[in-house]
Amino acid sequence: MISAPDIEQNLTAIPCQDVLIKATHRRCGPFDTFAAPAAVCRVARRDHRPFVDAPLTTRLRRDHDASPDRASLPIDRYDAGLIGAQHLTKRYGDKVAVDDLSFTVQPGVVTGFLGPNGAGKSTTMRMILGLDAPTKGTITVNGRRFAEHTHPLREVGALLEARGVHPGRSARNHLLALAATARIGTARVDEVIDMVGLSDVASKRVGAFSLGMGQRLGIASALLADPDVLLLDEPVNGLDPDGVRWIRNLLRGFADEGRTVFLSSHLMSEMALTADHVIVIGRGRLLRDQSMTDFIASAGGSVVRVRSPQAARLADILRPHATVIDMVADGVLDVEGMTSDDIGIAAAGAQFTLFELSTQAGSLEEAYMVLTEWAVDFHTHTISDRDHQ
Ligand SMILES: Nc1ncnc2c1ncn2[C@@H]1O[C@H](COP(=O)(O)OP(=O)(O)OP(=O)(O)O)[C@@H](O)[C@H]1O
Ligand SMILES: [Mg+2]
Repeated sequence: MISAPDIEQNLTAIPCQDVLIKATHRRCGPFDTFAAPAAVCRVARRDHRPFVDAPLTTRLRRDHDASPDRASLPIDRYDAGLIGAQHLTKRYGDKVAVDDLSFTVQPGVVTGFLGPNGAGKSTTMRMILGLDAPTKGTITVNGRRFAEHTHPLREVGALLEARGVHPGRSARNHLLALAATARIGTARVDEVIDMVGLSDVASKRVGAFSLGMGQRLGIASALLADPDVLLLDEPVNGLDPDGVRWIRNLLRGFADEGRTVFLSSHLMSEMALTADHVIVIGRGRLLRDQSMTDFIASAGGSVVRVRSPQAARLADILRPHATVIDMVADGVLDVEGMTSDDIGIAAAGAQFTLFELSTQAGSLEEAYMVLTEWAVDFHTHTISDRDHQ
């Protein structure tokens, strides 16, 4: 085992304080250990000199102290796969779209980017790709600004809201043109067309594509260069159920290989299934950066749903012990402040029949709504709200 200083000693050609080491082995996640002596790492200085190949003579150290939901870091200054925002701010005239945002997106997990309409998600993603310049602060991928990467397409595959696809081009020709800019072969173009399920329409004009087909083409573009980082703004918009399930599995597989997945979506149920970690913003500001499990748990205590033909009498028995009892329908109670065991024992003691006794876990949607209520710029009204005006 070697530590960071040992690695730096190996790299005597690059006397540096700040090295960035990245595995070139496609089948290894960036945080995997490497068998000696075949492993070769790409090493770069953070002063943006080109990458050089350097042999590693032994295994990289695994940091067993790393938090369990994060891939472990082989060396302290290892930035591979990281997206890092530091005090990121973006103003459009008087409008502060992104306000002093600092976060790190880690490899090896799917990170969901949540926030109400106009919260600044797309603006942040555009800044990651260098399409918008920060007013203040920095945002880097793999330790560098996006524009400073020699092969940006190979570093980050992106799908943004607005796509610049010529409507007169076929899907295949669009991808071939994109591939040519990164010296990617035709075989890979056909491979990604097949992966996203567009083989039958690959020669059709993109202008005639449905929303979901356009979305699949956007995902194909993002996957084309087999990047280590995937950045997807609302990727499931317009996808049919088969497409939604496909992209969920794809993203999970990407993260399992140790790659970085950062995606925005307003579909909370889908996000809950896909993401391990959430970054939530509201009015440009960071509201939460935590694991999905902790975020959902933060929504408050769980509720026990009870269905019984003696619901009203059961409620009377439970009332001294529960914090809240709601009669949500005829014969149905939602009980807070008691476990399902306690309720079951109380019901058995009174010889009441139970048809259902189930703990309703908090949902991502609930946690999100509670957190972002104040930050919603565009409020909707129910029909009854309007009726009362
Ligand atoms: N080019 C621009 N010029 C002026 N204002 C802009 C521009 N781009 C974004 N904004 C403003 O910045 C704010 C953030 O917009 P952004 O598109 O990043 O939000 P979002 O979180 O992606 O929202 P949504 O969920 O609706 O996609 C909005 O108030 C928007 O009007
Ligand atoms: Mg957006």
